[in-house]
Amino acid sequence: MRLILLGAPGAGKGTQAGFIKEKYNIPQISTGDMLRAAVKAGTPLGLEAKKVMDAGGLVSDDIIIGLVKDRLKEPDCARGYLFDGFPRTIPQADAMKEAGVAIDYVLEIDVPDSEIIERMSGRRVHPASGRTYHVKFNPPKSEGVDDATGEPLIQRDDDHEETVRKRLKVYHDQTEVLVGYYDKWAKSGAPGAPRYRRIAGVGPVEEIRDRAFAALEQ
Ligand code: AP5
Ligand code: ZN
Repeated sequence: MRLILLGAPGAGKGTQAGFIKEKYNIPQISTGDMLRAAVKAGTPLGLEAKKVMDAGGLVSDDIIIGLVKDRLKEPDCARGYLFDGFPRTIPQADAMKEAGVAIDYVLEIDVPDSEIIERMSGRRVHPASGRTYHVKFNPPKSEGVDDATGEPLIQRDDDHEETVRKRLKVYHDQTEVLVGYYDKWAKSGAPGAPRYRRIAGVGPVEEIRDRAFAALEQ
């Protein structure tokens, strides 16, 4: 299985990626998680990316495309892969097409903007694994710590309301265009075209998981 998860910030890409990668035994390639790891490690890339991320903007296409291409060379990607938060611009999508990176499905998780702000303010993450919780909608078994490791959960630096609004704007301005891009490609029926699936992303996390699993079986 090789797929792209598409959706606004807070749509639940990371949450659903956790289920899908387990089911298909494939690596999750989250450019957001990769950038946050670079920030934490204090690499030159991380230092540069942090400013952009904290402002809710997009890191440059060249950097992101390079990161993903390197990641795809690792042996676990031979089993398949799940892109989470990538591609986010037309040049990123074109770069994958040009490199012949195969995609079976594009799965769009649709959530209205009005829902997003509340989700983000309650989000808590386990940085090492990327596992994501919500204080109200998807709480950890014990408050403030990761279910699997017992390590502390943190709040992301870019989850302040003002930054979330900026990220939503950037999504509508630069990323949403990929809905049409992939839908059109899927409908063309050209060799190698992916299948396009859209699911509603509002409701209990497990219900959305079941919708996602069903969509990937058609
Ligand atoms: P990234 O980490 O990709 O952030 P994002 O796309 O803004 O998405 P999020 O991670 O915020 O949301 P999500 O859809 O994964 O939702 P989640 O499952 O966590 O990128 C961060 C930054 O890095 C970017 O702003 C940019 O600067 C940079 N970047 C990354 N990739 C880039 C690229 N390709 N090009 C350029 N720059 C790039 O869920 C959110 C919350 O809701 C959680 O608390 C969760 O528990 C809760 N929740 C989930 N599902 C439900 C539900 N059904 N009901 C209620 N609550 C729910
Ligand atoms: Zn995410």
